[in-house]
Amino acid sequence: MKDLRAIILAAGKGTRMKSETPKVLHPVCGKPTLQYVLDVTQSIGSLKTCVVLGHKSELVKRYLGKTVTTVIQKKLLGTADAVRCAQGSFRNYRGHILILCGDTPLLRKETIRTLIAKHKRTNADGTFLTAVVQEPAGYGRIIRGEGRKAVAIREEKDASDYEKNIVEINVGVYCFKSSVLFQYLKEIKVNEKKKEFYLTDIIEILSTKGLRIETLETDDYREGLGINSREDLAVAASVLRRRVLSDFMLQGVTIIDPSTTHIDSDVRIGQDTVIRPFTVIENGVRIGKNCIIGPFTRLRPGTRIGNKVEVGNFAEVSRSRLGDLSRMKHFSFLGDAEVGKDVNIGAGVVTANYDGKNKNKTSILDQAFVGSDSILVAPVRIGKQAMTGAGCVVTQGKKVPDRRVIVGVPGRILDKKRP
Ligand code: UD1
Ligand code: MG
Repeated sequence: MKDLRAIILAAGKGTRMKSETPKVLHPVCGKPTLQYVLDVTQSIGSLKTCVVLGHKSELVKRYLGKTVTTVIQKKLLGTADAVRCAQGSFRNYRGHILILCGDTPLLRKETIRTLIAKHKRTNADGTFLTAVVQEPAGYGRIIRGEGRKAVAIREEKDASDYEKNIVEINVGVYCFKSSVLFQYLKEIKVNEKKKEFYLTDIIEILSTKGLRIETLETDDYREGLGINSREDLAVAASVLRRRVLSDFMLQGVTIIDPSTTHIDSDVRIGQDTVIRPFTVIENGVRIGKNCIIGPFTRLRPGTRIGNKVEVGNFAEVSRSRLGDLSRMKHFSFLGDAEVGKDVNIGAGVVTANYDGKNKNKTSILDQAFVGSDSILVAPVRIGKQAMTGAGCVVTQGKKVPDRRVIVGVPGRILDKKRP
């Protein structure tokens, strides 16, 4: 979109998080809070985005890499000051500016699109997002005047008792004509109580000048949740988790018990796969069709699972591939393993992939049968249709040829082939 650019405010300290990590880098469902907001600006026609950084800016900058422009707010003088810091990136720009906060991971792109559409359709000078919430404490309240027009946003600290009862709050998402924004930003005065410049004060200024202000109320009040504490982080995670699960169910994945299933936001699962209770699936995992996963399975990043695979209770898979029709049904661990098709991983099988220095690879080829309690001290290779006996320790560097059988501790390859 040529006539729209974005600013994300992410300089704040997040004092109430009580953390060494900047609050916008705290992960929710496996992804930093800030990334959710960036995903929104990316999904709306890859908006040119400027992120305002401050507290521990080096860490956030390292995370962002070169994906977006960043500016540093040296002193945290409030949200209006943060926007002012970004002004330099908008020289000669005449379009609209979308302003978002880096600590609101529950925002949905559909809502932002609707906000922008309303802003343009009504030819407003400024449009912002509101939500009606049960507990408005801590948020800016929307003051409405004649004809229910929004005339100001009152921050909690400055609100009268009457105003504190208002349940319509400011989510912290705004769209302004850039010329209007930068002209009136200058008129915002320091808030005497907090010694900060509040961006929210611009609404009263525009209203007094008779400029056009529009609002959009979201139909999902949770979208407005700003992460200010660990408590907020947990609430956001539970909402996002539920959204992720609903999306999977819509795509044809059965989730037996959503309340005990944790799936991160960047996971792919094929149709007709069933996820049983108490299962954790982390970012980057890919699962094919018609699989049965769980109960009590943990699939970690870098895991690829084919079609018609079964992974059962107390099984952990990390950075590994499991081919079509393979089964790993009871308490086992696979790390850095390449498992072919139709392989049986018996109960209690463990890849000893870490030798204290390096992570080593295990290859298990098609139709191999890894007997119960086998320990595979990587690197090892188990050939096609080969078999390991129960309790066998396949020592480091061992290559079991196709169709051969290995038994004992340390593992010995038998002369005869597997029948
Ligand atoms: C802000 C709004 C409030 C709204 C709420 C929604 C103001 C004055 N108030 O309050 O009306 O209901 O968000 O969550 O804007 N930031 C900077 N630099 C600063 C201060 C803040 O970049 O100097 C960033 C923060 O990192 C954060 C965002 O601006 O991402 C909002 O700041 P925060 O301190 O969380 O404001 P709230 O008190 O939540
Ligand atoms: Mg906040």
